[in-house]
Amino acid sequence: MSQQKENWGSRVGLVLAMAGNAVGLGNFLRFPVQAVNNGGGAFIIPYLVSFLVMGIPLLWIEWSMGRFGGKAGNHSTPYILDTMTRNRFWKYFGVFGIWTNLAVAAYYCYIESWTMSYVFHSIMRTFDGMTQSQVAQFFTDYVTIGTSTTGIPFEAPIFYILCLLLNTWILSKGLSGGIERTAKIGMPLLLLFGLFLAIRGITLGESGATAEHPDASAWAGLNFLWNPQFDSLTNPSVWLAAAGQIFFTCSVGMGTIHCYAAYVKPKDDIALNSMAAGWMNEFVEVVLGSCVVIPIAAGYLGLDWVRENASFGMAFQTMPFLFENWGPFLATLAGVFWFGLLFFAGITSSLAMGTPWMGFMRDEFNFSREKAAWSFGMVVLVLGMPTVLFYNYGVFGEYDYWAGTVSLVVFALAESIIFSWIYGIDKGWAELKRGADMKVPEFYKPILKYVTPTFLLFVFIGSVFSPVGGDWMGALQSLFSGSGWPLDNGSLINQVMNIGLKEQIAAATDATTRTNLEDQLMFISGSRILLVVVFASICGLVYVAYRRRMKEGRV
Ligand code: PHE
Repeated sequence: MSQQKENWGSRVGLVLAMAGNAVGLGNFLRFPVQAVNNGGGAFIIPYLVSFLVMGIPLLWIEWSMGRFGGKAGNHSTPYILDTMTRNRFWKYFGVFGIWTNLAVAAYYCYIESWTMSYVFHSIMRTFDGMTQSQVAQFFTDYVTIGTSTTGIPFEAPIFYILCLLLNTWILSKGLSGGIERTAKIGMPLLLLFGLFLAIRGITLGESGATAEHPDASAWAGLNFLWNPQFDSLTNPSVWLAAAGQIFFTCSVGMGTIHCYAAYVKPKDDIALNSMAAGWMNEFVEVVLGSCVVIPIAAGYLGLDWVRENASFGMAFQTMPFLFENWGPFLATLAGVFWFGLLFFAGITSSLAMGTPWMGFMRDEFNFSREKAAWSFGMVVLVLGMPTVLFYNYGVFGEYDYWAGTVSLVVFALAESIIFSWIYGIDKGWAELKRGADMKVPEFYKPILKYVTPTFLLFVFIGSVFSPVGGDWMGALQSLFSGSGWPLDNGSLINQVMNIGLKEQIAAATDATTRTNLEDQLMFISGSRILLVVVFASICGLVYVAYRRRMKEGRV
């Protein structure tokens, strides 16, 4: 095993890096859309409850596991899990903690590369004088390879490769010299840009109303998001969406936190540091994340428009157009701030995704830091190119579903059981409290042991069997009346079988649509094969590593 001497440079640096890991595109692009699509204020309570009973426990579990594994020189989940359990199988399960990062990085870096390109276009004033639909079309052209409105051929792959190169280069500079430094620059700038835009968002008020959108109001947008409503508490679909958002935004269930925590010194505090990073993420998400896209869009286009059109594309398709209302100087500034903010949010997260792979290759195969970083870049390039080239064929969405959604729940469920039941909650609890600079509330111990795994089990079962339209009562009635369980096409079972897409193919009325949908099916199947091959290859590497350890008498 290589003796990795790497550690975090300082406590502030560690917390900023961890916060940077959590604060990502999810905070600004995913959160507002999830909130709007799940009833605005109706989303907030399940969201906060999920953070308290699932987010915080998982943060503690992952930080504890990471620091524990790091003491024995293990920096990625296969061997972190192996040190905590007796069964040989778990290290293969730990492959999730590397694979998810590679697959998420593949499409995540693509969004990140859009933000780079949009900073460039904001400075070049590309959006000046464009109509709303032209700005939207610009994005569509951008992601359609071979169609370019900007005169730069193959702009999307070029920026993607640039973005990967930048990530790889920073990763090759190491933990404190690369990641920590980026977080120390990126996080304060992100907060600054975010505050500027949030103030613009809040103070916009009703001044953006026009004859075309007479009821446009930024406050209506904020009100919709922040006015808690209790009627959704019994709706499992809203809970699933809320829990899914907590996963993504806290970066739990991924293996990244384990890896970062594995570089913490054995006596360093983890209980408080994890809370500092976790709550900073919540602040950025709930406060800043709500104060930009939704109020600004509602302030010019009205709340109804926002409710009908909420999607993560809004950030690229609508915002640049709306900024133009502020005159050339402020529009440029806002564009640079907005896409710059997204870029910093993105890069401090994508760097985190590189570390589990690097940790593994360095621990097991004595890779140098540079070699580990460049090999990460290569793997992500191969895995990511299909999301760039075949974006319009659903490859991107496929990665997001399997790696960015399902796998997080599966991994988190397993690790919460390992931590509390296999490793043992008493030992686990002691591990968490070792060196803690805060008093960890004792009532969290039973939460970690019982509530979190149960909650996760419900989330998992809920996504496997989601009923049509999220109507659980209706589905139960149907089941008991003998008509079976009406599965939604968004349920895991129907997703595996591509039922939704197949229905669309069957219903297609013209040949072009049908061919296009059939192509989608082909690309989706292809991307699944690729994802499985990568997973199996990492399992192979874990096996080789195991053999090496056996030979060297290290098991
Ligand atoms: N938490 C990040 C976000 O909100 C995403 C992420 C997931 C980052 C997993 C690292 C690991 O965008």
